[in-house]
Amino acid sequence: MDNQPAGMLPAAAPGRLRQTEIYVTGVGGARPCIPVAPDELERRAMRSIRVQTAAYVVGGAGMEATMRANRAAFERRSFVPRVLRDVSRRDLSVTLFGRSHRAPILLAPVGVLEMAHPQADLAVARAAAAEGIGYIFSNQASVPMETCAAAMGEAPRWFQLYWSSDDEFVRSLVTRAEKCGCEAIVVTLDTTLLGWRPRDLDLAYLPFLRGLGLAQYLSDPVFRRQIPASPPETGFRPRGLGIIGAALSMRRKGKEFDLPMGRMRAAVAHFTQTYSRPDLCWSDIARLREMTRLPILLKGVRHADDAKAAREHGVDGIVVSNHGGRQVDGETATLDALSAVVVAAGDMPVLFDSGIRSGADVAKALALGARAVLVGRPYVYGLALAGEAGVREVIRNVVGEFDLTLALCGLTRAGDLDAACLAR
Ligand code: FNR
Repeated sequence: MDNQPAGMLPAAAPGRLRQTEIYVTGVGGARPCIPVAPDELERRAMRSIRVQTAAYVVGGAGMEATMRANRAAFERRSFVPRVLRDVSRRDLSVTLFGRSHRAPILLAPVGVLEMAHPQADLAVARAAAAEGIGYIFSNQASVPMETCAAAMGEAPRWFQLYWSSDDEFVRSLVTRAEKCGCEAIVVTLDTTLLGWRPRDLDLAYLPFLRGLGLAQYLSDPVFRRQIPASPPETGFRPRGLGIIGAALSMRRKGKEFDLPMGRMRAAVAHFTQTYSRPDLCWSDIARLREMTRLPILLKGVRHADDAKAAREHGVDGIVVSNHGGRQVDGETATLDALSAVVVAAGDMPVLFDSGIRSGADVAKALALGARAVLVGRPYVYGLALAGEAGVREVIRNVVGEFDLTLALCGLTRAGDLDAACLAR
């Protein structure tokens, strides 16, 4: 160990460590607290939560062809492992914007986590920090970013922004993210309008209208100041909001952002009127550049020309994502779009998500040019089943399998993965 280069891992870590942990405790009769097999993890999680939560988390746009395409693209690719190479020491680390990450994996921004578990984002922040993995705070979080950041010590966190129609509020969110130690701003561009999601439509259920997933708003001084004294006359009168607001007040730990019941309806109405900007365009990105010195990533880029434009507008990175197939039904799988975007992006780092379920998937995305990946739904399943411990197990399983896949393909560094590792 002593003479090994920085970042190099001994043979036992982290793939064999995870296997050993499971098999050795298994001798005493213990089992992992959540299923290791990705499909079973999803099945069990879906059975454990309310039907509305299951629909919101697992569901996608339209007939969910994009979701299926995301997975099919991984299944179409196959490794061609090499043998008789010394793979006893591995380096999974990746450097992003000057910061070294333990593995090329971050937790994706996922909103409304209180539907999955009462500790929501806070449990995820703790799990990510404990496992040394970065976490991207969602704009639609259930816990304010400051609370999550305070639980993460020096662990890396980024902030994901949905660009509201109110610029003062956008500026406030960005400033808060800077202050609580976020190291990048990720602007999500594929959700300027909510996709057509039949599972949610059939249940007539949108969590935000129930006051869920609004913690970044309700904890924001600018947003709070702008809540009208009474809800504007939009014809929008969600039933039951008062009751739900009261229930939320009791459940939430961070009392600082609670509102009196009567104000909740006005806050939700203000949110629905300001949350999205379908008129967002490249000049807004230039304005964001002026608002912050943090690296800016654009999430939701799928076309090479948009990657080129991002470079021209001084953007620092891209996340190739189709929001897990939740926005446009019948679009290209992100894995199929990745290579062209990587070429167009030049030396700008390209991250990837939509369909990552395992460590082997991580390796395929890296082989096709991703610098790192975001894990989305799987950690929500872990959260739903076992809170912080469940998220930690998902991270350990994905990182562990990634480590073993790398080694068993005959490689020792995450950065060595390239198209030559895959069958043509
Ligand atoms: C998301 N995603 C998302 N993205 C974002 O930028 N802000 C958000 O608030 C959310 N919220 C959200 C909620 C739920 C329930 C899901 C499943 C996803 C998208 C997320 O960041 C990521 O792009 C996808 O999860 C990737 O797809 P898979 O791998 O989870 O299928």
